[in-house]
Amino acid sequence: FAQNTGELSVQTSPSKTINRHIYGHFAEHLGRCIYGGFYVGENNSKIPNTQGIRNDVVDALKKLKIPNLRWPGGCFADTYHWKDGIGPKNQRPTIVNSWWGGVTENNSFGTHDFLNMCELLGTEPYLAGNMGSGAVQELADWVQYVNFSGEGPMSKLRRQHGRQEPWKVKFWGIGNEAWGCGGNMTADYYANEYRKYATFVSDWNNSGGLFRIASGANSADYNWTEVLMKNIPKNLIEGVALHHYSVIDWDKKGPSTTFNEQQYFTTMQRALFMDELIQKHTAIMDKYDPQKKVALVVDEWGGWYEVEPGTNPGFLYQQNTMRDAMIAGTTLNIFHKYCDRVRMANLAQAVNVLQAVILTEDEKMLLTPTYHVMEMYNVHQDASLLPLTLKSNDYNVGNAKLPAVSASASRDKNGLVHVSLVNIDAKKDQEVTLDIKDAKFKSVSGRILSSKTLQDHNTFDNPNKIKPANFKGANLRGNSLKVKIPPFSVVVLELKS
Ligand code: AHR
Repeated sequence: FAQNTGELSVQTSPSKTINRHIYGHFAEHLGRCIYGGFYVGENNSKIPNTQGIRNDVVDALKKLKIPNLRWPGGCFADTYHWKDGIGPKNQRPTIVNSWWGGVTENNSFGTHDFLNMCELLGTEPYLAGNMGSGAVQELADWVQYVNFSGEGPMSKLRRQHGRQEPWKVKFWGIGNEAWGCGGNMTADYYANEYRKYATFVSDWNNSGGLFRIASGANSADYNWTEVLMKNIPKNLIEGVALHHYSVIDWDKKGPSTTFNEQQYFTTMQRALFMDELIQKHTAIMDKYDPQKKVALVVDEWGGWYEVEPGTNPGFLYQQNTMRDAMIAGTTLNIFHKYCDRVRMANLAQAVNVLQAVILTEDEKMLLTPTYHVMEMYNVHQDASLLPLTLKSNDYNVGNAKLPAVSASASRDKNGLVHVSLVNIDAKKDQEVTLDIKDAKFKSVSGRILSSKTLQDHNTFDNPNKIKPANFKGANLRGNSLKVKIPPFSVVVLELKS
């Protein structure tokens, strides 16, 4: 491999906190995410489970320290009627999952199943409410059902169904992609509807304040954010969403494993566009909310390719390669950079759908390269961001270029400094000289995620082909650290003083 050099300087006085909720996940009733992925049913499954939830998936997600989980969609959320998913399972009505494969949904995984699963996972639930085909009363009832400890018709119903104490759900989405599958609304119309819904989504005075998230822009639709920020009073909103997928072309997404370098490069252009997107949406939000009270919630992000050959096109099942590790590492570094505004995000999706961290096949389970990046990076959760300046070489394909190296640094509550570095260059090593301002470190250790080819991925026959390894390529000399990062790899360093 050829080699390039770049420079990185890190300030050691912390600026802002990296909210752990940036590391959130997403579980939709889509393909095999819920059924077969998280949930195998209470009866007769040979797969070890707790109340129908796969033990292997729970263990893996606990290691990831997932801070929140969004459910039940996505597009599915605006077709979902929560009352269909409570009560005796054999009496629950069915519905057709019209967005995802037209399969019949038997509602056997409902509100209790999801919220109890969140307790098992030690994660905070994020419920996406139905605005598109639902009603204000329906959503208001759901909030009372899950959050109210007093006497009310819905809290009574919850108790009848076996749950005494409320779950106290804080995060509530008011519709999803209201500009599209959530109802094809205009921004003005949605903003008005939002005001009405948000008014009746009451806190019930015992859940510590709700965090209401408005359905946000589709990628670079800046007008959407502008209209919402202008028209929604700040006492009715805590977060505005944003969805952005790294997709080459919606009509020709390309394969998930047999892609070429040009396709890889285009995917990375789309992924790195997240920086400009956040910068511009943030500038609009700053105009209406200079104190940054309203969070930008990137509640859908990740790579989106063609489905695996032979699988249902409506199930969005795709493999996960080192390309996905590059998307994950660079995107998380971008979220950190804007962590005073981006305070929550959700990778799409957790299991068996799009850029999943876990894939399952019957009783088998594997962890994807994306899983490993999120696990290596979780040292940044709730740590203080350390400002840095980075001079990176370019990664060139034809006449186009991208910065080859992406980096982020933070200091955790124990004083440990972590630096995450991604080299997206498909061919060249990058040597980065890291200059740490005003601090002395005694030792450096690290882990790396790399592989022989960009297209490498874990399979059910070889589930540990890609996994983190110890990294020996960092050398500390005084305040200066030299790091040699192999092509398409992710490195996380730990510095001790
Ligand atoms: O994550 C898959 C789908 O992508 C979601 O249901 C929808 O919100 C988005 O378009």
